[in-house]
Amino acid sequence: MPTAPMPEFPAGFRWGVSTSAHQIEGAVTAGGRGPSIWDTFARSPGRISDGSSGEVACDHYHRHSEDVALLAGLGVDAYRFSIAWPRVQPSGSGPANAAGLDFYDRLVDELLAAGIDPAATLYHWDLPQPLEDAGGWLNRDTAARFAEYAELTAARLGDRVKLWITLNEPFIHMSLGYGIGTHAPGQMLLFDAFGVAHHQLLGHGLAVAALRSRTSSPVAIANNYSPVRVVGDSDADRAAGAAYEALHNRLFTDPLLGRGYPELPGLDASLIHAGDLETIAAPIDVLGVNYYNPTGVRAAEEGSPLPFDLVPLDGYPRTAFDWPVAPDGLRELLGWLRDTYGDALPPIEITEGGCAYDDVPDAHGQVADPDRIAYLDGHLRALRAAIDDGVDVRGYFVWSLLDNWEWAEGFTKRFGLVHVDYLTQRRTPKSSYTWLRDMLAASRDGSAR
Ligand code: FCB
Repeated sequence: MPTAPMPEFPAGFRWGVSTSAHQIEGAVTAGGRGPSIWDTFARSPGRISDGSSGEVACDHYHRHSEDVALLAGLGVDAYRFSIAWPRVQPSGSGPANAAGLDFYDRLVDELLAAGIDPAATLYHWDLPQPLEDAGGWLNRDTAARFAEYAELTAARLGDRVKLWITLNEPFIHMSLGYGIGTHAPGQMLLFDAFGVAHHQLLGHGLAVAALRSRTSSPVAIANNYSPVRVVGDSDADRAAGAAYEALHNRLFTDPLLGRGYPELPGLDASLIHAGDLETIAAPIDVLGVNYYNPTGVRAAEEGSPLPFDLVPLDGYPRTAFDWPVAPDGLRELLGWLRDTYGDALPPIEITEGGCAYDDVPDAHGQVADPDRIAYLDGHLRALRAAIDDGVDVRGYFVWSLLDNWEWAEGFTKRFGLVHVDYLTQRRTPKSSYTWLRDMLAASRDGSAR
């Protein structure tokens, strides 16, 4: 699909794509990997929409060289992948499992040889099962275990990884994993899940210090944000919008940027020990922003266990996940971050953005995904506009390189620039891959205007 030339991005802007370990690697017992909460969760009947698991996924563990070649062909500057904690520490504590780290060592070297910056996320939701058995993120000790794992990993890879990301989307992990139970580990604690927020943030802060002792590369966290659109005009609707905003957009950012916690129901102050807020507010170099869509919010019905109702937003095209396609939300969100946090806001990189569509190869084996091209085109223009508004954004990572195992949705949601046939593991670059490749090449030639 031809689109008008993309406006130029600032020099040094980092273009990348993102993946996560459990969604692509497979090989769940190779090299001494231990079980994670997602292995357990997927085995429990009814949890995953198509009954699948991440046992094989995209078999990236065995096909990583082919995937690095796809990255090189795309021409990205950086690749954001995640490291599976259960490969590095199969039981969640103790010495590093050398075979687990060897895999990432090879991957990092292959990326560097291809001229691609490795950007490693330490935790993309795959908690070692033995840690969950000991209370998971409700247990304060998990924060200390996470910092220990961060240090072991950076001791091996800290000289070559160019960007470290501690946690991926701690809000989504808390709310879906421990709040409403649709993700692993499947707990339904609603607002009693606050400990999961605090201990993840504490783990992040401790890990920042651990990483700094082993690497001079920049350190970040990747948060999920969603601009709140209040549906309705009553005071109760506005109050519901503010409550949801505190939960989704501020709970994991206010304390990181030195403001302590916003007011929230269920926030159990006894979990916050002396010094925790200082640990959590350790300076970071980059704020990772994952943006997919805005959220419609209105006042909850009488008797609801939550102080808001989430409602579909009208007037937008929708992805196969039924998420609204709203590039304006990205510009709005970036403006909100700048206005809310001012000088405390570090430089931003968009660490995820993308969309699921039901992409099918045609009779010639080609995969045309014009909707994904339109999605990316619209979001990159909105991002450019936010940079013009004065927001310091330095990179954009597309979710995702490959179609992959989309958590509770199994294999039913395809987010890739590259189509994967899960029966044969054949990779086919979609038309969005070609579009992005050509756009990146044009921007390097300086021909993009
Ligand atoms: C994000 C997750 C990522 C993927 C995309 C679609 O919330 O970080 O793993 O599931 O959504």
